[in-house]
Amino acid sequence: MRVITTKSELRSSLQPSRIARKTIGFVPTMGYLHEGHISLVKQAKLECDIVVMSIFVNPLQFGPNEDLDRYPRDFERDCELAKEAGVDYLFHPDVQEMYPNQSLTYVRVGQITEKLCGASRPGHFDGVATVVTKLFQIVQPDRAYFGLKDAQQVAVIEQMVLDLDIPVIIVPCEIVRESDGLALSSRNVFLTSEQHQQALILSKSLRMAKDKLASHLFESTDQVSQFVIQQIQTQSLAEIDYVDTLQYPSLQNPNSLTDDLLIAVAVRFGSTRLIDNVLVRHN
Ligand code: PAJ
Repeated sequence: MRVITTKSELRSSLQPSRIARKTIGFVPTMGYLHEGHISLVKQAKLECDIVVMSIFVNPLQFGPNEDLDRYPRDFERDCELAKEAGVDYLFHPDVQEMYPNQSLTYVRVGQITEKLCGASRPGHFDGVATVVTKLFQIVQPDRAYFGLKDAQQVAVIEQMVLDLDIPVIIVPCEIVRESDGLALSSRNVFLTSEQHQQALILSKSLRMAKDKLASHLFESTDQVSQFVIQQIQTQSLAEIDYVDTLQYPSLQNPNSLTDDLLIAVAVRFGSTRLIDNVLVRHN
């Protein structure tokens, strides 16, 4: 595995593979790798000749009062894990390399970014869409891998690629969970064991909601969200940011319970904000 820190070196390193018509798979991350990230690499390795991973904690997608400074970082450990997983090129630029000038250009995806994390983290998806566009320009992958843990992010990137004619196939990948059900996240390290225990209500309530939907036990999508809220409220340390049931991938209000639905939650435990979701596909 080669670790590369500049855009120009990455471009020139990938050039021979491109000329040889090798397919390039890309896994963008912010590091502090876990099995969720590694599952994306595994999928990419199944489908592509070369796998590029980026590790860049993107300041543009953090709000002024968010956790940019305390976002967990351990580059040495990440290198080991990426190498073990079979990453060929690990792109690890610093902020100066990614944003050398004061940027005057941003990528903003409309509508899909108005709900869920877009509503509670203003500007977040502008930061994501902008950095992912830049990374796509630098890597020029054939396929790019994103986790459905961030289902809204997948919808935003798919819309952006469609709207801007970016020649890349977006591959959504399933959520990886701990054996107790907690969705893996770099931020889980901040949870105390009591918070971790209480946070299990997220996956549990989402799974219950999905089962009840399948058994036709809800009369409206509001009832679905209300059920999940009630479940989460049984945990004393949980502070709900949002719980919502929306059409997927449009993230508009559903017309009926038979739409493809995303049930999504964001909940704080102390200063740690966790997100989770389930997709219920009917079509
Ligand atoms: P990060 O949070 O590091 O996540 C990188 C990728 O790993 C994302 O596609 C995310 O959905 C996926 N991922 C995280 N946890 C997962 C899990 N438990 N199961 C499956 N996939 C999981 O998402 C970002 O970084 C950034 O916004 C980024 C796209 C890199 C742009 O800066």
